[in-house]
Amino acid sequence: MKECGTFSQNTSINNCYTVLYFLGESDGCEVYRIQNQALELKFLRLIKSELIDQIDLDRLQTDLNRISKFHHKNLVQCDPLQNFISQGVRYYYFLSDFISGETLSDLLIRRIRLNLYTTFDIILDVMMALKYLHDLPEQYIHGYVNPDNFYICYDDKKIKAYLFPIKISHYINGIKLSVQNKFDLSYMATDNLDGRKTVKGDIFSLMMVMYKCLTGVQAWIYDFDWQDSSVDFIKKQIEITRKVSAINHLSFYTTAVDEDFEKIVYKGLNQDYQNIVELSEALQHYAKDTFMIHRKSSNDAIEPVASIPKNTLVINKGLSAIAGMQVLKKQLQDDIISPLCEYSIYQHYRISPLNGILLYGAAGCGKTYIAQRIAEEINYHYIEVKPSDLASSYIHGTQEKIGRLFRQARENAPTLIFLDEVDAMLPKRDATNISHHYTAEVNEFLAQMTDCAEQNIFIIAATNRPEVIDNAILRTGRLDKLLYVPPPDFSTRQALLEMFLEGRPVDGFLDTYTLAFMTTGYVSSDLKFLVNEAAKLALKVQTVIRHEHFEEILKKYRPSISHEQITKYEKFRF
Ligand SMILES: Nc1ncnc2c1ncn2[C@@H]1O[C@H](COP(=O)(O)OP(=O)(O)OP(=O)(O)O)[C@@H](O)[C@H]1O
Ligand SMILES: [Mg+2]
Repeated sequence: MKECGTFSQNTSINNCYTVLYFLGESDGCEVYRIQNQALELKFLRLIKSELIDQIDLDRLQTDLNRISKFHHKNLVQCDPLQNFISQGVRYYYFLSDFISGETLSDLLIRRIRLNLYTTFDIILDVMMALKYLHDLPEQYIHGYVNPDNFYICYDDKKIKAYLFPIKISHYINGIKLSVQNKFDLSYMATDNLDGRKTVKGDIFSLMMVMYKCLTGVQAWIYDFDWQDSSVDFIKKQIEITRKVSAINHLSFYTTAVDEDFEKIVYKGLNQDYQNIVELSEALQHYAKDTFMIHRKSSNDAIEPVASIPKNTLVINKGLSAIAGMQVLKKQLQDDIISPLCEYSIYQHYRISPLNGILLYGAAGCGKTYIAQRIAEEINYHYIEVKPSDLASSYIHGTQEKIGRLFRQARENAPTLIFLDEVDAMLPKRDATNISHHYTAEVNEFLAQMTDCAEQNIFIIAATNRPEVIDNAILRTGRLDKLLYVPPPDFSTRQALLEMFLEGRPVDGFLDTYTLAFMTTGYVSSDLKFLVNEAAKLALKVQTVIRHEHFEEILKKYRPSISHEQITKYEKFRF
């Protein structure tokens, strides 16, 4: 995947448009965010020059001319195909509306699945766009209804969805389909896998998207390698799977739906609706009867995050609040705290503080907790960022947001930026399952993080998936030290148990030494949970917390992390 486009930032395209950002490659195009002479933001899709020879330009031009005349509030408005010559090369491109949001694919990567209300909002919007297309005097059938073509906008209070009307790679002969394009096939009706487009096929695809939104998985589970399999093989396997296995029950994945709702989805997947009106009536009828009245009380809607969160620390005890973990604490003190807090002494010896560190290790071992305690210890201005704050809530504004984050950090320096669950923010740029949008974000992060210590900014990142982080982040001058946060050893378990038991009514004979033995393999968050559960048992019978309460609880709950998983982290080397 390319990191920069043919045209760099601020260059003028065709003397009309200024490139603001290269967003990445998608669907046979380089995608740019540009500004036109009226200072309006637009997307510009530049057909990759190496594909020009294979593309059916006449057909694309005819279709885009036609599509440019479509106007619907839930359809992304596209302009006709244009071209220009730069340095002797002819380029082809078209503009489309700028939508401040993200694709449904990106949203699903971030959220896995959506609640019923959000799903309804998205599906109903796109359904209206499809109805418009199907009802045109000269009917237009989309043929590629899948989450990549849904744009989700958060500008208004209510979430709004748009359908992107065209698939460029469809016009390229002999193009080697990317994995992403192969996934498109899984949303197509079986009869349409050969390229035919039908109204019922669009309805089928819409129901597939609905199913995916609600469950996080597809209606059928396909068990083959999408990356290496040929398109013909994939089509065959899709056909066979759908023939021999039944749809997985929606209710297996979500309790939000009832039988009536399931019936609507299955009817759509069976292609039993004749047109969008029939489907729309069924859905609207269901929605009106069943949940529209309750939706105001739903607090599960997607809230785009408008600003970067501020200091969220509440306790103020620093490293001393970390139980056990003596080796790690000493390392933190020597490598981070002292160089930052005794800056002038270290400067005298010309020892610069680190730019940033990565804490990695299994879930529940205390990475987030430790990062927060470091923040207290060094007492810097503190900014904590989670993927949901930044990663892709405003995908097309995210680069600016990253810029804003670092500007805010500089203005308040010295600042500690804590990037929690950094794997979701800085995924490997060559990973096949990430959308092109992320590439631009990762680039922006890399640029901002480089040598930020010189501006008095210190970065702590944390992850339990170190293997998926972009390697460029981990070089010196960005995150220059990687610290493994191990599962608690014996003495740490004992210290943790004592810490979690503190202030509770405890039997004088309860021996944390023995308990630390009994809890071999349990991580810090497990111990917190065990203590809490033991306390609940004691409360039930109104006694102090006793050894037998722990025995009872330990019989019920196994450690949340397996020995194999721990070994995987221990063996992990960048
Ligand atoms: N050394 C410690 N001292 C005191 N409490 C700890 C320690 N380690 C972990 N904890 C407790 O365990 C809980 C879980 O830890 P934390 O959420 O930081 O884990 P994590 O490694 O960030 O997990 P994940 O990878 O799932 O985000 C914390 O809320 C904290 O209360
Ligand atoms: Mg964490």
